[in-house]
Amino acid sequence: MSQSTAQSIEGLTQTALTELLQLENAEALEQWRVHYLGRRGELTTILRGLSQLDLEQRREVGALGNRAKATLEEGLERRGQEISEAGLVQVADLERIDVTLPGRPITTGRLHPTTQVLREITDAFVAMGFSIVEGPEVEWDHYNFEMLNIPQGHPARDMWNTLWVDYVNEEGQRPMLLRTHTSPMQARVMESMEPPVRLVVPGKVYRYEATDATHEWHFHQVEGLAVDEGITFADLKGTLYEFARQIFGARRQVRFRCDYFPFVEPGVDMSIDCFSCEGTDSGCRICRGSGWIEILGAGMVHPYVLRAVGYDTEKYTGFAFGLGPERIAMLKYGIDDIRHFYSNDLRFLRQF
Ligand code: DAH
Repeated sequence: MSQSTAQSIEGLTQTALTELLQLENAEALEQWRVHYLGRRGELTTILRGLSQLDLEQRREVGALGNRAKATLEEGLERRGQEISEAGLVQVADLERIDVTLPGRPITTGRLHPTTQVLREITDAFVAMGFSIVEGPEVEWDHYNFEMLNIPQGHPARDMWNTLWVDYVNEEGQRPMLLRTHTSPMQARVMESMEPPVRLVVPGKVYRYEATDATHEWHFHQVEGLAVDEGITFADLKGTLYEFARQIFGARRQVRFRCDYFPFVEPGVDMSIDCFSCEGTDSGCRICRGSGWIEILGAGMVHPYVLRAVGYDTEKYTGFAFGLGPERIAMLKYGIDDIRHFYSNDLRFLRQF
């Protein structure tokens, strides 16, 4: 009995291995596996029958059977590898691919609307010969205020609701803050170079602010600065007029009015004529019927600011400006709430 069982195990192994070499795809391999090694497979059935034998024989033939099983399993794996390495087309798999199915769409990312507008704005100034620089968001009181003609206790500090960093220096002061505007880069840059200066500073700014449709505690600004011999208010007007036309269209008119910022004298705000109603709709949502939309603050750099960085105020003059890209994007695209920019709602972001 044991003799014949041993023989049939050997014969079976030979046959199975010979067959295996002729198989060419995964499906055939699977059928082969079920036939020999499956739960009702030939080898399995023989091994199950061993329980009929006495202990001695069972041990001997059992070992033989287990070796045969291992041989077949190894053979199966090797053949499987050969097939996939040879790249043999698996007809069975091919038939399962429906080539008429539409492809899976690739989801692409895109630039945030603020980034897009920032780039559009800086591009307009780069085309006029300005370079781009960036600066720190955690800033010293020294640059954010002092160097801009806003000393300690100056009432104009109230124009910027400031987030102070909880750091106290040896003199017991809190000199560090989150920059409230990009203007501190005016002083940082002028300190480090001689005129001519022509630069724009895009970046994030922070305010201690209760948020609503037109206020965020975090938003962006683009600062501009040009200092050289003989720069006049006409240069300021020409540059900003050209900028307005680049962003809002060639037909735009601009208007300058007096405004106050401690670091410029005279200071102005600039408005464009309403591109939505062109001044014809007293109920216009964009200009509120005034026909004008304020888009930035600017002015001639205050001599105190030039002096603080060591420039010769007899020789050099300059102009500066600051604008808010979120506000410009809101006007351009009719966005009615600044909070949309940073609430990460894909339905909003996908529109840009
Ligand atoms: N830094 C000002 C603000 O945050 C904006 C500004 C106004 C910047 C006039 C300037 C300027 O450079 O000349 O409100």
